[in-house]
Amino acid sequence: MATASKPSRSGAAAKPARSAKPATPGLKIKPVESPKTSRIIAICNQKGGCGKTTSVINVAASLAAMGQRVLVIDLDSQCNATQGLGLSLDDVEESICDVLLDPKAHTLADVILESPYANLHVAPGSIELSEYESRAATEIGRENRLKKAIAQVRDHYDYVLIDTPPSLGLLSVNALNAATEVQIAMQSHPFALDGLHLLLETIELVQEELNPDLKISGVIVTMFDPRTKISREIVDEVCAIASLKGKVHKTVVRQNVKLTEASRLRKPVMYYDTLCSGSEDYLQLSKEIAAQSRSQPVSKTPAAPAKKPSKTNTSSTRA
Ligand SMILES: Nc1ncnc2c1ncn2[C@@H]1O[C@H](COP(=O)(O)OP(=O)(O)O)[C@@H](O)[C@H]1O
Ligand SMILES: [Mg+2]
Repeated sequence: MATASKPSRSGAAAKPARSAKPATPGLKIKPVESPKTSRIIAICNQKGGCGKTTSVINVAASLAAMGQRVLVIDLDSQCNATQGLGLSLDDVEESICDVLLDPKAHTLADVILESPYANLHVAPGSIELSEYESRAATEIGRENRLKKAIAQVRDHYDYVLIDTPPSLGLLSVNALNAATEVQIAMQSHPFALDGLHLLLETIELVQEELNPDLKISGVIVTMFDPRTKISREIVDEVCAIASLKGKVHKTVVRQNVKLTEASRLRKPVMYYDTLCSGSEDYLQLSKEIAAQSRSQPVSKTPAAPAKKPSKTNTSSTRA
């Protein structure tokens, strides 16, 4: 179980080193090799409730437990990723929204907070993100704000995971423009295929107009029910989509109520029930994601500075 960070508002930036201590009692988690250059992963789908935030929280926690330096950026005004990683919105003095709206006054490094977990930092969201679109409507370079902000800190992290809102508006476009890759979170439900073409079109548009290097690196299947034929059929249908061929992760995340219980307690599932299928699946999925960068040598960049928040509360495989 992670411990709460000590309250501190000194403004002095802490420099957490890569942690060697076991992250989860009862689970032996082997360190994995870091990517050569940091991977900036936007977890996207304009559908709400398909498991984006749950995936961000639990992949981030798993990668951090494997010794990777991880930054989570919460672009959703509901701030579920911020809170799900044990931070209280009461402790957020500056959020990612401030960075996007006024980058001269707020850098990304200013807003990054330590989470209660080793190697895991958070750029918290805020309710104001819901107004970002209208407030930034006339700003020049509004699609580039996140990309520029991340450029200042990216070398300090192995993985930057961006949680996106349930829309394809300016915040999601910022995420796709800033990312080196996108992972699509998709519930194994018949309605999941509706709107998938719109998401793929948006990704294509961003590739054409803003970020030619962006690639779709994976489809994360969530809430999979191994007992139903329909779950399997949906996965098969997604696998057959030309632009997603070979992209659907072998590990699917099964339905598991422990994931919801853990998010209610505002912690990654591996710190709530280390042996449940949710922990097992997200750990396995994270290994798969980490293995995508296996060919790259270890990064040598020092750990990033982050402030302590003033207080914190702290497998399934397809055939
Ligand atoms: N594999 C799963 N099994 C059961 N419930 C899940 C699973 N993944 C997510 N959930 C639950 O589904 C709801 C929506 O998930 P969430 O990650 O918030 O979706 P999104 O961020 O796409 O809106 C949450 O209550 C979450 O706890
Ligand atoms: Mg969400």
